[in-house]
Amino acid sequence: MHRPWYSYDRGPIQSKVASFFRNAEIAIRPGANWLGSLQEIVPKYDTVRSMASIFRDRLLEGKTAFVTGGGSGIGQRMAERFAEHGAQVMLVGRKQEKLDAAAAGIRSSNGTAETCALDVRDYPAVQAAMQKTRHRFGEIDILVCGAAGNFPAPVTGMSANAFKSVIDIDLIGTFNTCRASYEHLRKPGASVISISASHATMPIAYQAHVCAAKAGVDLLTRTLAIEWGPVGIRANCITPGPTDDTEGMRRLAPTPEVRKKVEAAVPLGRFGTKDELADLALFLCSDAAAYITGAVYVCDGGQSLVRSSLSLSEKH
Ligand code: COA
Repeated sequence: MHRPWYSYDRGPIQSKVASFFRNAEIAIRPGANWLGSLQEIVPKYDTVRSMASIFRDRLLEGKTAFVTGGGSGIGQRMAERFAEHGAQVMLVGRKQEKLDAAAAGIRSSNGTAETCALDVRDYPAVQAAMQKTRHRFGEIDILVCGAAGNFPAPVTGMSANAFKSVIDIDLIGTFNTCRASYEHLRKPGASVISISASHATMPIAYQAHVCAAKAGVDLLTRTLAIEWGPVGIRANCITPGPTDDTEGMRRLAPTPEVRKKVEAAVPLGRFGTKDELADLALFLCSDAAAYITGAVYVCDGGQSLVRSSLSLSEKH
């Protein structure tokens, strides 16, 4: 009779592997909580390590970065990482107080930061910010389109204006930022990074506005990669998963119970960190990524491979 290869186990390692496959086979039956089973059987590895240390110091010396959503969350951490590596950064967001605090943090570590308070929905204001950046720092090497808005609501619980607000901030705001930046971007050499979400490729209940907007962001960015490639501008997306200590997670996973559910739906079994996303951004705007354009980099611990973290049974 045919025996599966894992039944030929000998020592302790083989036996662990064999038991993993036996359990996995059982757990993969339809309806079984196979991810939970896998998380129990597979030993946990420490996956939280900073990638930044593998880059040479001052990797971005003399470069200029323009970061929307730079006053808080993921955008702020990316701006901090760029500044640590010698870039001069323009922090852009709606609230001057937040921008001032973020800029003060960068300056206190001997970095260079300026601020520009605006709403990315306001095209003339974005144009003016680009001009200010060019005047102050020169051509722009790195553009991060990170400004975003979100709230959980079913389609019947949002007005036409509510839906439009998120489309305007996430999608039109990304267009406005890219469009206004073009004449100020370094050619060749500039790197555009749009912050997307798994919503772009997967329907998520209570997030119709973000799904529609982020799908647009992905394709807009990949289209820019084609149109701007010939002048030496690269354009890529970063798709964060559930990321600790961000406004988005405070809104979408507001209680320890929801947070636990989100973690349980992540194959790596934890939230991501802003540092991990900042390291990915650093990689994408470095020469190590010189031949990468039109890519969507998913940094979500595998969450989007499995299923939506929000389900219809969850009330918000
Ligand atoms: N459920 C349903 N509708 C909502 C809502 C909610 N939780 N929050 C806001 N809206 C509606 C408002 O009622 C309004 O619609 P109306 O004019 O028909 O009444 C519309 O959305 C715009 O809201 P408003 O607060 O005036 O707009 P804004 O443009 O200043 O806000 C949002 C933008 C809606 C995205 C807001 O949630 C926001 O500013 N969020 C902060 C940033 C953020 O979300 N960060 C996390 C990024 S992942």
